[in-house]
Amino acid sequence: MSVSTSRLRTLRDHIRWAVTRFHSEQLYFGHGTDNAWDEARQLVLGALFLPWDVEDAYLDCQLEDAERSHLQGLLQRRIEERVPVAYLLGQAWFCDLLFRVNEHVLVPRSPIAELIRRRFGPWLDADPGRILDLCTGSGCIGIACAYEFPEAEVVLSDISFPALEVASQNIELHELEGRVYSVQGDLFDGLPGQRFDLVVANPPYVDAEDFAGMPEEYRHEPAMALACGHDGLDLIRRLLAGAADHLYERGVLIVEVGNSQAHVMALYPEVDFTWLEFRNGGHGVFLLTARQCREHQALFRQRLQPETS
Ligand SMILES: C[S@@+](CC[C@H](N)C(=O)[O-])C[C@H]1O[C@@H](n2cnc3c(N)ncnc32)[C@H](O)[C@@H]1O
Repeated sequence: MSVSTSRLRTLRDHIRWAVTRFHSEQLYFGHGTDNAWDEARQLVLGALFLPWDVEDAYLDCQLEDAERSHLQGLLQRRIEERVPVAYLLGQAWFCDLLFRVNEHVLVPRSPIAELIRRRFGPWLDADPGRILDLCTGSGCIGIACAYEFPEAEVVLSDISFPALEVASQNIELHELEGRVYSVQGDLFDGLPGQRFDLVVANPPYVDAEDFAGMPEEYRHEPAMALACGHDGLDLIRRLLAGAADHLYERGVLIVEVGNSQAHVMALYPEVDFTWLEFRNGGHGVFLLTARQCREHQALFRQRLQPETS
């Protein structure tokens, strides 16, 4: 099936047409928008470098032929290949900040954004001096933290070199080279002996069942950013076992585990995780203090291996 938009003239025509097709083709919206209207507006306006909140009157502007064919190509890829809009545009928004993205990084969407905006209140005793964004992808979490805590030094760490290239572009984009650094490594491996006041992580945590059922849009994201073993906890087990060695005395660890919250609770019933609440939606983010990480480190080390069933 090909996408023909040749009779469409205005921005409004294109947005309306896209909404109809997005519905009829049953696209999935989970990468920055949650409905066809916002998705269509984001794609059409973004592709033409127009602001998302452009005045209504401009929607009736006619497009040039070249603009129409550019849009036609993007709409075709969104509908037929199910490519998320963020990859089509090469950009995404997180905490009201613009980030470069490509298919080597997850499209930013973590509910941790809300915690950053609240400056992690009431969980931090004082502004953190050193922050680690573990499993950083595009760098969105760490860079947004750098804005909220202008005195902090921030380390962005990931195992993927191509992801770190994107994170570095974002450090430059936000002119944060003086205090935001990227480090390559498997979890804490690239950070021997380093400690932080705040470690934030949105690691891969999707369990095998959820991964198998994910809509096609997610297949464009790196599998290593999503899937993580049978119960989704392959990385979380190691992260918990190592966290105490990388937190200062009064430090805090915040980790997103999404639907794998149930697996975390079942695996460590002895641990009193604080499950954070969100006003804007989202779930499955826990907080542990450095003291808790130390107290349970032996247990976390004991349970490093997935149970074989
Ligand atoms: C869910 S994505 C999160 C990206 C970003 N923090 C965000 O919220 O958009 C998980 C990231 O973890 C990285 N990753 C996977 N395995 C890793 C490992 N063993 N050590 C460090 N990073 C890892 C992936 O490359 C990916 O960028």
